[in-house]
Amino acid sequence: MPISESTREQMREIAGRYPSARSALLPMLHLAQSEEDEITTDGINACAEVLDITPAEVTAVATFYTMYKRTKVGKHHIGVCTNTLCGLLGGDAVWDALTEATGAGHNTASADGEFFLERIECQAACSNAPVMTVDWEYMDDVTPSSAVEVIEKLRRGEEVHSTRGPVIRDFEATEHTLAFPDDGLADAPSVDAKMLAGLTIAKERGMTGGNAQ
Ligand code: FES
Repeated sequence: MPISESTREQMREIAGRYPSARSALLPMLHLAQSEEDEITTDGINACAEVLDITPAEVTAVATFYTMYKRTKVGKHHIGVCTNTLCGLLGGDAVWDALTEATGAGHNTASADGEFFLERIECQAACSNAPVMTVDWEYMDDVTPSSAVEVIEKLRRGEEVHSTRGPVIRDFEATEHTLAFPDDGLADAPSVDAKMLAGLTIAKERGMTGGNAQ
């Protein structure tokens, strides 16, 4: 489906933020993905036209970063961290429970198009391991049963919140925020006492970068 004129207009607006327009490519790709649920040839061509670069240059970027998808994601993107700390604390069990609950596998969507699963790398949230993400919002300290409960609530159309507060919207809405981060949602709190524990102790002990002992 061709990228709409209103999305092209928003792409031009993003390009105008940067001294060098091609620096806008990453948020522009998120914008294309917010419209088409994946990066399509039409999305690539629209970015190339707006930035006056070749489709091959856009494709090189879109295929390098794993947040850009070449198959339809569906309504919700579900990420499960299975890196070292999350894996040790149950991330693999969470993954197994979610594949069973959705019927989806790595980088594939469920048959009903509701959920797209992905094994993801460390989300810099190890203090709350194991971690899953729903449309890139954190779900901290999950268990197999709490992860499946999130899926079931979303399936029933119930309101679900990240363990850090924000309401879960859907993948396309998140992609639009990644293109236009000035939508006010960035003001939501994103750190807690557990994450700041090391810094708090360092301050209490008067430690600085030069005398950590
Ligand atoms: S290992 Fe999962 S958030 Fe760091």
